[in-house]
Amino acid sequence: MPATIVVGAQWGDEGKGKIVDVFSANAEYVVRYQGGANAGHTLVVEGKKIVLHLIPSGILHSETKCIIGPGVVLDLEGIIQEIETVKNQGYLKNSAQLVISDSTTLLLPFHKTLDKAREASLSDKKIGTTGRGIGPAYEDRVARRALIFSDIFDQATLKEKLKLAIKEKNHLLKSLYNEQEIDLEATYNQILQSAEKLSAYRSANTSLLVQKAIKSGRKVLFEGAQGTLLDVIHGTYPFVTSSSTVAGSACTSLGVGPQQIDRVIGIFKAYCTRVGSGPFPTELTEEIGESLRKQGNEFGSTTGRPRRCGWLDLVALKYAIRVNGITNLALMKMDVLGGFDKIAVCTGYKIDGEVHTEFPNSLNELNKVEPVYEWFQGWKEDLSKTANLMALPRAATNYIDFIGSQLGTPIDIISVGPGREQTLWVKPLYT
Ligand code: GDP
Ligand code: IMO
Ligand code: MG
Repeated sequence: MPATIVVGAQWGDEGKGKIVDVFSANAEYVVRYQGGANAGHTLVVEGKKIVLHLIPSGILHSETKCIIGPGVVLDLEGIIQEIETVKNQGYLKNSAQLVISDSTTLLLPFHKTLDKAREASLSDKKIGTTGRGIGPAYEDRVARRALIFSDIFDQATLKEKLKLAIKEKNHLLKSLYNEQEIDLEATYNQILQSAEKLSAYRSANTSLLVQKAIKSGRKVLFEGAQGTLLDVIHGTYPFVTSSSTVAGSACTSLGVGPQQIDRVIGIFKAYCTRVGSGPFPTELTEEIGESLRKQGNEFGSTTGRPRRCGWLDLVALKYAIRVNGITNLALMKMDVLGGFDKIAVCTGYKIDGEVHTEFPNSLNELNKVEPVYEWFQGWKEDLSKTANLMALPRAATNYIDFIGSQLGTPIDIISVGPGREQTLWVKPLYT
């Protein structure tokens, strides 16, 4: 199975980083294909935590090549900082392990200023972005005025494009948002300094690199960021991110054909979380939601914001399986449900008195959803030390079996803790 996509099947933070790290022991390439430093992918190795935002989650395996593809928005300051952090932790000893596509969109400080200024101006209509400049950077790409990674190595092009960009951004910042204007020379000089630090990671053509790898039978993992319901088209628009987060995006963003993909692995938690605004049908705003947040340590890996928590939503999950073409599932954070007397799973949406099992497209309908729940007996055991599947308590197995039967897609991995070793395999998926 040389080409596998790992995709978030909920609202992000499902545990994609952990799974990609675990798989990377056997992957030759790991590719980040979309999103930017809004992502926070947590890896826990021997009790030590590492949070990655732009660097692919294969970086802890020195033999695994990590690629930042052209569909990513690259925060120049962020990537330099992150490279330093992983180096200080003893990884990325050989710069050839990390590759950045020349066509990657640059995300510059003014994108972050604009993102925050726009959010501030929206008052109660806020999207609740991470403030990492994602929307403004993707806007520039689509508007065909973005600076791209190769520009920072060509002083004349850089100056010319930056001049144009800053002229427009200054107008917006000053007249619309009453923010401080950007200084062209200072920004230009800062980018030149970044160029020096990043030249070792340049790659002219990551699409070709990956195609060649796939053709020669190398194992390639595509690491999704965010989650299906945050997709700019298929998510709960407008409360979404600005990139295509679904599995198909691995093909369009990196430049490989769909027939080259062998498998799509959907990552989902045993419950749901969401950061930022927008519909969340199974959200629990009181005591149980608070307990899930506490037990699951549900605080954003990027912003530290408390994540909204709720019961598992099978209507939304089935939708994610469909729009991504998910072939296998990984069920994460089962350990977090330990200690609850009863656990609910949403199997339908009641809208205006009628029960629906398809995820609605309209925000208006989503806002009216009353979840229909199936209730399960909880368990008291601490699952985090479960040695194998046979050792799972009956109540936990019942819960997993019910989910599996409803989804009709195999759950091949059950995760019971953040560590690599806290992974139970129903089927060896990535050997
Ligand atoms: P990602 O964005 O999908 O990579 O997920 P995040 O890293 O933002 O959030 C997942 C959080 O859950 C991280 O803190 C992980 O270390 C942690 N995690 C992953 N799998 C498990 C698990 O099975 N159990 C528990 N308790 N924590 C987990
Ligand atoms: P990972 O890869 C969870 C959310 C933000 C906000 C919306 C838009 O760690 O799963 P943006 O900054 O992208 O313009 O914000 O998307 N969001 C995430 N939520 N996990 C993420 O990434 C997210 N990246 C963005 O909270 O609601
Ligand atoms: Mg995350």
